[in-house]
Amino acid sequence: MSTESSPRPHTDLPEGRELVLKVIPMPADTNGNGDIFGGWVMAQVDLAGAVLPARYVKGRMATVAVNQFIFKQPVRVGDILSFYSHVTRVGNTSITVQVEVFAERFSAQGQYVKVTEASLTYVAIDHEGRPRPIPREGLPAGMA
Ligand SMILES: CC(C)(COP(=O)(O)OP(=O)(O)OC[C@H]1O[C@@H](n2cnc3c(N)ncnc32)[C@H](O)[C@@H]1OP(=O)(O)O)[C@@H](O)C(=O)NCCC(=O)NCCS
Repeated sequence: MSTESSPRPHTDLPEGRELVLKVIPMPADTNGNGDIFGGWVMAQVDLAGAVLPARYVKGRMATVAVNQFIFKQPVRVGDILSFYSHVTRVGNTSITVQVEVFAERFSAQGQYVKVTEASLTYVAIDHEGRPRPIPREGLPAGMA
């Protein structure tokens, strides 16, 4: 019998973070190893990360930076992915969020593995694509 231990299979879901997206990757999203392609995960994180800024920007915005992106564990076909987000900084024209992604494995539902975490910055833009100030009303507590 093997005594080798696999990564801890479950973790607590984050408190004080908003669930902004749930999605299940499909076989068409795999790489050559049969795991989910990292670029697919990045696209979902960009979409999920935009949810909270969209609430405050009130108009057009664009992703200006992926400040950090960590693939902690592989994502597999059939995982139920949950994307949690919170605002970490509100600047004059930009909002930065942290996104954490948890996988509920097809074979172990009810248990969550953190697979990815990332920090992204979104900029409010005007109709000509130039940065514009973020409206200060309604921002998260401590961020106005
Ligand atoms: C977003 C864009 C309008 C910003 O224009 P810019 O001339 O760089 O604007 P600024 O230098 O005035 O910066 C605007 C804000 O972005 C932030 N920013 C700029 N570059 C950044 C970077 N590398 N990392 C983090 N934040 C950055 C600035 O700090 C500023 O925020 P603040 O006002 O809250 O302090 C422009 O870069 C752009 O159009 N980029 C393409 C966006 C896009 O197509 N995204 C999708 C990618 S496929």
